[in-house]
Amino acid sequence: MSVFTFAIESSCDETSASVLENEKVLSNVISSQFFHKKYGGIVPELASRAHIETITEIAEKAIEQSGIQKEQINLVAAAKGPGLIGSLLVGYNYAKGFALARNIPFTGIDHIESHLFSSFIGEEKIIFPFLSLVVSGGHTILFLVKNYNESEVIGFTHDDAAGEAFDKAAKMLGLEYPGGPLIEKLAAEGDPGFHKFPKSSIKGYPYDFSFSGIKTSLLYFLKKEYNSKPDESSLKNIAASFQDAVTGVLVEKTILAAKNFNISRIAVSGGVSANSDLRNKFNEYIKSGFRIFFPDKIYSTDNAAMIGYNAFIKYRARGFKTLHEDITEKAYARFKY
Ligand code: KG4
Ligand code: ZN
Repeated sequence: MSVFTFAIESSCDETSASVLENEKVLSNVISSQFFHKKYGGIVPELASRAHIETITEIAEKAIEQSGIQKEQINLVAAAKGPGLIGSLLVGYNYAKGFALARNIPFTGIDHIESHLFSSFIGEEKIIFPFLSLVVSGGHTILFLVKNYNESEVIGFTHDDAAGEAFDKAAKMLGLEYPGGPLIEKLAAEGDPGFHKFPKSSIKGYPYDFSFSGIKTSLLYFLKKEYNSKPDESSLKNIAASFQDAVTGVLVEKTILAAKNFNISRIAVSGGVSANSDLRNKFNEYIKSGFRIFFPDKIYSTDNAAMIGYNAFIKYRARGFKTLHEDITEKAYARFKY
């Protein structure tokens, strides 16, 4: 018998709903709250309100597009965190209500863990162990994933997340939020060797990251060289150089960990994993024997399919009873989000 999972994700500024048949995604509807652009970042109160307005429509669309009947759904999942609490509550309670009304199992799912497994959506199977680099707007974490129940955080950022660094740099360059995709677009026509931005490292923690230095360095560079207003061609070169520094350090540290832990499988996920320069840099290592897993770009940024996928693979691996357990909960010992 198939398991039809209905999943909701509303942790930040995307309202998303998805339906899966076992591990196969049948629908994945995402509504992004573009109005935050004018504030230069997410306004939590407005985000929650927008979720309330859109959640029913998005959920119904996802069920309609899946081609199944509501009555066929036998598992419900929703992102339970981390994220903006007001936003999370909307999706979480909607999904819980949906499950309660139908007397079917409901599970709260960790958002980061769902990014972690999203690299395998569409793959035949997941082979453990693997290294997982989760790079999003709020997190930059390197996991050593041993099985469905066990993972270890082996690296994380001490200050800004990689996506946050992109977003802050974009703001300095006069670009809108979210900045990552816009920097990538400009960088495509720029020279990454134009300026060398510093690649920070943390003494004693070879797999930890720091992105606040590079951001400050960009600020001073812009002030000193361009009175904070670079011309168009410099802008492209600066975007390319900045992107190169951020993606370079992400790849270097992940590969160093992979070599030291003797692991050849690397999964990269989260919003920043949509970045082509990051993908190209990782893919360079395929010829050295590494296997690199990226989600389809639609599953890189926040989406409900990854929540449903994570719920289903847990169900399959462990059964309904222990569905609520997160492998990440134990892994966060050295690190608390
Ligand atoms: O995973 P995500 O959608 O939301 C969080 O869980 O944070 O990640 C959003 C982040 C933003 O910081 C955005 O600028 C970044 O991912 N991002 C990118 C790209 N697409 C999204 N960064 C670099 N290049 C991209 N193409
Ligand atoms: Zn995310």
